[in-house]
Amino acid sequence: MTAGFTVRAIAPDDAAAWRELWAGYCAFYETQVSPAVTARTLSRMLDPAMPMIGRVALKDGVVAGFSISVVHDGTWVEAPVCYLEDLFVDPRCRGQGIGRALIADLVDLGRAAGWSRLYWHTRTDNPARRLYDMFTPADDFVRYRLKL
Ligand SMILES: CC(C)(COP(=O)(O)OP(=O)(O)OC[C@H]1O[C@@H](n2cnc3c(N)ncnc32)[C@H](O)[C@@H]1OP(=O)(O)O)[C@@H](O)C(=O)NCCC(=O)NCCS
Repeated sequence: MTAGFTVRAIAPDDAAAWRELWAGYCAFYETQVSPAVTARTLSRMLDPAMPMIGRVALKDGVVAGFSISVVHDGTWVEAPVCYLEDLFVDPRCRGQGIGRALIADLVDLGRAAGWSRLYWHTRTDNPARRLYDMFTPADDFVRYRLKL
């Protein structure tokens, strides 16, 4: 518990609140994710057998933010690697430390689970980099993305 909010694994009862935030996240990225893919992402987060990790931050008992990560093997390390793919905080709840807590939560989870690394991408001009720089400096890799 930090400053009136908690972070925990997403649960089936969070589905409606998560869908609302997910819609805001997709709007932020000006992208449209089909209802089928959204449903699949939700069900994979809720399935402990899947390597997809959904975490929600609750402020006064209400879902105010989420992170979605994928744990995968690495070729340079023995222990799994975690890719933080999505991070979002309800615009009405920003600036209160929830984004920071969602990342710190993954760091804690990863240390407990023995992951070797946590990484994420963002746009070069995303102001959220101020937050990310508090965890680690950005490296000098660029991303190539080929649509198939
Ligand atoms: C990025 C995001 C998750 C941050 O959530 P948040 O709860 O507002 O972040 P925090 O309150 O934990 O911020 C912690 C620190 O980072 C700074 N920070 C965080 N996001 C910032 C932003 N967008 N612009 C400027 N500073 C930011 C805060 O000022 C704060 O610094 P301080 O403690 O010195 O005041 C939220 O802004 C968001 O959902 N943005 C839209 C989606 C997005 O960009 N997702 C990430 C995609 S890679």
